[in-house]
Amino acid sequence: MTAELPTPDTTLRAMQAIVGANACRSGDADTQAYVTDYRGIYRGQAQVVVLPASTEEVSRVLQWCHAQRVPVVPQGGNTSLMGGAVPDDSGTAVVVNLSRMNRVLAIDPVNDTMTVQAGVTLSAARSAAEAEQRLFPLRIGSEGSCQIGGNLSTNAGGTAVLRYGNMRDLVLGLEVVLPDGRIYSSLRGLRKDNTGYDLKQLFVGAEGTLGIITGAVLKLMPQPRSSAVAFVAVPDPAAAVALLGEAKRLSGQAVTAFELISRPALDLVLEYLGNIASPLQERHDWMVLVELTSGTDAESLNATLMEILESGFSQGLVLDAAVAASLSDAQTFWRIREEISDAQTRTGGSIKCDVSVPLSRIAAFVEEASARVLELVPDARMVIYGHMGDGNVHFNPLRPKDQPARDFLTQWYEPVSALVDGMAHAENGSISAEHGIGVAKRDDLTRYKSQVELELMWQVKQALDPLNLLNPGKVLPAPGR
Ligand code: MLT
Ligand code: ZN
Repeated sequence: MTAELPTPDTTLRAMQAIVGANACRSGDADTQAYVTDYRGIYRGQAQVVVLPASTEEVSRVLQWCHAQRVPVVPQGGNTSLMGGAVPDDSGTAVVVNLSRMNRVLAIDPVNDTMTVQAGVTLSAARSAAEAEQRLFPLRIGSEGSCQIGGNLSTNAGGTAVLRYGNMRDLVLGLEVVLPDGRIYSSLRGLRKDNTGYDLKQLFVGAEGTLGIITGAVLKLMPQPRSSAVAFVAVPDPAAAVALLGEAKRLSGQAVTAFELISRPALDLVLEYLGNIASPLQERHDWMVLVELTSGTDAESLNATLMEILESGFSQGLVLDAAVAASLSDAQTFWRIREEISDAQTRTGGSIKCDVSVPLSRIAAFVEEASARVLELVPDARMVIYGHMGDGNVHFNPLRPKDQPARDFLTQWYEPVSALVDGMAHAENGSISAEHGIGVAKRDDLTRYKSQVELELMWQVKQALDPLNLLNPGKVLPAPGR
């Protein structure tokens, strides 16, 4: 098949004719940033990188690639942790980067919706909503770089899923360019539409394997009038789950975030940031960052937070707590949480597992999986953190300080993630709660999805992309593996 492909020169000229010479990148130096993932783990090559400015241009690019049988890799902010947004090293692909399609097209404050192009960054989408006194509630650490198209393609989650759901819950309509260049559009912003299959949801979480998302209608929420944030030490993960139950009981819908942080995760991030102290005096093994938000006034929300903490103290679920006294305190607490991911990347040597189990099992899972991983890698720093309120933890054993990353990482797939993922699967959990599959976990799916699920996934792929041109090699394990 490779021999029949057009030469890179032919492809470059064809792409220049569609998007203009200034919107094409070719050659190693100019394509480097687009073919390497942001952690520097996955490095591929591309014939050409194109940056279209409109849906019509995306459509013409895909029509040409389809006719020429050229594989296409869609790309947003290139913040995937799974290698889902970069090409393989064959050098055959055209990368379609959506960054120039970065306009907020409309905000309808009555319908509480926002229509955006796919290349709008998450932070730009949030700011545009805020300018209309609305909230777009998706919250993830990479919001300054990640784009709405990528958020949709990976069904992004983050720290406010507990309250608002993930991207699948936040989208009302999509515009998608199909592998042959046809345009599917449901940019209508309806909350009720039972006219057959919900086609848009096929593309959410498909990681660009079925088409390229070019636009979306997103739900907007009322802006909360107040928030209350606390950094809380708990005796163990079971106490954290019990405290979450108390928080829900006493505040109803107000619990917006409930993030677990293990002691090694806190130590790592404080060392990495250098200029920030722990919010708590003593050192504790387990902490949670709790945020309540509501439409009521700050005074009554703070009173609710105090009630939750007092109830926690009296039941032995809380050992200590720091309540944010100002916006700046709250920002510091959140900075500590959000920088854990980068602290690991910069330290190097982190085995990343992103698992979820039912909330009723998460505490036991964390304890049991930690004990078993420590039997295998006794000195690993157990960096465990994340979205406890959703039953989702980032379970990331980190190399001992004196062990080179390369040596430690030889244990990544076997035995460490095989053990952790296997334990999550045995609890009816997921081996990828929110980071997706990409190339990193593609072949693991054969172990954790049923034959019927894999067959259905391939049938959907074949129906929409029979030539296997869209993000080939991602998500779907080769049939028969
Ligand atoms: C997070 O929750 O911080 C993100 O999912 C990123 C990560 O875990 O590395
Ligand atoms: Zn996360």
